[in-house]
Amino acid sequence: MLEAIRNRRSIRKYLDKPVPAEKIEMLLKSAMQAPSAMNKQPWEFVVSQNREVMDHIPKIHPYAQMVASAGAVIIVCGNRDIQDEIGYIVEDCSAAIQNILIEAVNLQLGAVWLGVYPRAERMKEIASLFNLPEHIVPIGIVSIGIPGETKAFENRFNKSKIHQDTW
Ligand SMILES: Cc1cc2nc3c(=O)[nH]c(=O)nc-3n(C[C@H](O)[C@H](O)[C@H](O)COP(=O)(O)O)c2cc1C
Repeated sequence: MLEAIRNRRSIRKYLDKPVPAEKIEMLLKSAMQAPSAMNKQPWEFVVSQNREVMDHIPKIHPYAQMVASAGAVIIVCGNRDIQDEIGYIVEDCSAAIQNILIEAVNLQLGAVWLGVYPRAERMKEIASLFNLPEHIVPIGIVSIGIPGETKAFENRFNKSKIHQDTW
């Protein structure tokens, strides 16, 4: 197994240190290498390292309290003018988010995926906080920081999930 896949866990505690700009750029490069339906690459990314902006997130997202101590957030959004099928937007953006999480491990960063889509209220609040235009749909937030906790590998391999040739 790829080491970064094996070591990836949701990291929700961070040190009070900034995330270097080159690392943020590498996360975004990895995000944009994701596969996408018809190779439309319908993703858009809103990046913030602004404490004041970031501090609004835990107020509107009930499971995002860790953002208060994060060094950066990436709001992964879909562009409906590029891809009008919401199902594909969700799949494509999810692939991009997973790439960010795996690259974060590789860069010794800690990260966690915070769901936004399909919660209508959360989507509305995030769209308003980040001034998203009508055709931009927020799918998820990645909270990022210098890790302040470590988590062990958890073996989730489960043979009963595999169906050979037929169900
Ligand atoms: C679609 C999605 C939404 C998630 N939303 C949240 C969230 O709002 N807050 C949070 O702390 N973790 C969130 N997570 C992280 C999961 O809780 C986490 O991946 C899961 O518990 C497995 O733990 P691990 O990531 O450490 O392997 C989300 C994960 C996914 C895939």
